[in-house]
Amino acid sequence: MAQRTELTLSQIMLPHQANLGGHVHGGEIFKLMDMAGGAVCQQYANTVIVTARVDEMQFTAPVLVGDCVSCKARIICVGKTSMDVLITVDAESLKTGEGPRRVASALSTHVSIGGDGRPKKVEPLVLESEEQRRLFALAQERRAERRGPLG
Ligand SMILES: CC(C)(COP(=O)(O)OP(=O)(O)OC[C@H]1O[C@@H](n2cnc3c(N)ncnc32)[C@H](O)[C@@H]1OP(=O)(O)O)[C@@H](O)C(=O)NCCC(=O)NCCS
Repeated sequence: MAQRTELTLSQIMLPHQANLGGHVHGGEIFKLMDMAGGAVCQQYANTVIVTARVDEMQFTAPVLVGDCVSCKARIICVGKTSMDVLITVDAESLKTGEGPRRVASALSTHVSIGGDGRPKKVEPLVLESEEQRRLFALAQERRAERRGPLG
C-alpha cells in the first residue's frame, strides 16, 4: 500500500481568533499547523505523536477574519522514530474570492510514541518522485544545522 505522507486541514477564521483590526493571531495559525503536522504523522505511523521541534516558523502575509486557511503538511524526511514535516499555509478570502496566497510556513519534527511512552520506530520513507528527493535533501540539510534547546 502507498505511504500516506500528505494531509491538508482547512478552517475558516472567525472574529474571536483575531485582534481588533481583524488580523488573525499567529497562535491560531500555528495551532492549525501543529495539528496538521501531528495528524499527517499519526496517519503515517499509526501511533501517538508528539511535537519535538518547530523550525523556520514564518508568517509572510496577514490572515484576516473571513479567510479560509488551508495547512498542507507533507512528511519529507523520516529518521528512526522521528518525522520531519514541511507545513505550508495558504489563505483565500471568502468575502472577495481573492487568493489563495501563501501566508505561513514551517518545518516541524514529530516523534512516534509507543505504548510504553517511549519513542517507537517508524517505517522508512520511500522517495518516489524528484520533488520528494528534493525535499528530503532540504530536510537533511536542515537537520545538520540544528542546534540544541535555548536556555
Ligand atoms: C520528543 C521526545 C519524546 C524525545 O524523547 P527523547 O528521550 O529525547 O528520545 P530520543 O533521544 O530517543 O529521541 C527520539 C527521536 O526524537 C528526536 N528528537 C528528540 N528531541 C528532538 C528535538 N528537540 N528536535 C528534533 N528532534 C528531536 C531524536 O533525534 C530522535 O529521532 P530518531 O529516532 O529519528 O533518530 C521528548 O523530548 C518529549 O516527550 N518531548 C515533549 C513532547 C511534547 O510534549 N510536545 C508537545 C505536545 S505534543
